Amino acid sequence: MAWQMTQLLLLALVAAAWGAQVPRTPRARTDLLNVCMDAKHHKAEPGPEDSLHEQCSPWRKNACCSVNTSIEAHKDISYLYRFNWDHCGKMEPACKRHFIQDTCLYECSPNLGPWIREVNQRWRKERVLGVPLCKEDCQSWWEDCRTSYTCKSNWHKGWNWTSGYNQCPVKAACHRFDFYFPTPAALCNEIWSHSYKEIGSSETGMAWKITPLLCLLVCVAAVGAARPGTQLLNVCMNARYHKEKPGPEDKLHGQCSPWKKNACCFVNTSIEAHKDISSLYRFDWDHCGKMEPACKRHFIQDTCLYECSPNLGPWIREVWAPAPQTGASAEDSPLADPPPATCRDTPGILV
Ligand SMILES: *[C@@H]1O[C@H](CO)[C@@H](O)[C@H](O)[C@H]1NC(C)=O
Ligand SMILES: *[C@@H]1O[C@H](CO)[C@@H](O)[C@H](O)[C@H]1NC(C)=O
Ligand SMILES: *[C@@H]1O[C@H](CO)[C@@H](O)[C@H](O)[C@H]1NC(C)=O
Repeated sequence: MAWQMTQLLLLALVAAAWGAQVPRTPRARTDLLNVCMDAKHHKAEPGPEDSLHEQCSPWRKNACCSVNTSIEAHKDISYLYRFNWDHCGKMEPACKRHFIQDTCLYECSPNLGPWIREVNQRWRKERVLGVPLCKEDCQSWWEDCRTSYTCKSNWHKGWNWTSGYNQCPVKAACHRFDFYFPTPAALCNEIWSHSYKEIGSSETGMAWKITPLLCLLVCVAAVGAARPGTQLLNVCMNARYHKEKPGPEDKLHGQCSPWKKNACCFVNTSIEAHKDISSLYRFDWDHCGKMEPACKRHFIQDTCLYECSPNLGPWIREVWAPAPQTGASAEDSPLADPPPATCRDTPGILV
């Protein structure tokens, strides 16, 4: 079941890496990890909930939802929000599964801190905005739902609630999902008024290029964090070229530029990261003949992530092997630690 957690961490990390994409938060940085939003059913603080129900159970070690909330999340027109998934006839079970998962994530996850925003609403003080979802997850949500029916593309607003649960307003006709949500991104982004944001669309530019690597790193996270919570965010590791603290670097080169708002690398490091047998580690990508440029791009991206990211805190570990004076050893390589598991051990259910 680690996969839900893993994907969520992946999302968190992608967003963190994409500093530019994350709007300013009203919370202090130290409040970003392990928090519950101030909303209708959330606990004040996250904590263990051994008996969380079915699709919510991945959060049982540390959850913002109580057991009764997790049970309700699996019901039709539950007392949580009296929301009727079947507003245009029966929703397909495969589709409904995604909405239940979405509800569990929203109610239970203590990892949405970076995307919590204050709102002026009667029934909640905070919401999430722009939680990044992997393209693959939006895709499977959309594919499993495209043959179900709905009458609206924004499910937050505009319902007729006169009978105590949401019904389609008179002017809104029922059509297949793919009428109201022509693409997976439209579904993820629009349905809850931008609570989610599909990562991997053109809008997010290069994000997709680093996603697989982040995925690997995220899998390592399951092993556990070595640093106290407050040191997990916005830190640079103690390694050969890393700055002591992250900070802006306006001129970061090429593929390292996504970190320019807040980086652990200097400009010179970012330039070297793009060179063959660079001064960084004298590493020869072409050790068996010319490496394809498309392939090399990933290694450059990997180097940029390793050198520049201030968001690797949860996965930083002390090492005791003496650093070699010249050249690189296996321990010295950014790719030295293989991940213990694959990220996607279960196919695409939403987070
Ligand atoms: C679930 O139970 C707790 C404690 O028993 C209660 O405070 C909370 O309001 C309940 N949640 C819902 C959604 O009713
Ligand atoms: C809302 O639904 C009720 C009954 O379900 C209906 O009588 C009423 O006309 C609807 N109003 C709108 C604005 O759709
Ligand atoms: C980049 O410059 C900094 C100081 O300006 C220096 O400490 C560091 O060693 C340089 N890095 C590389 C890769 O040359």
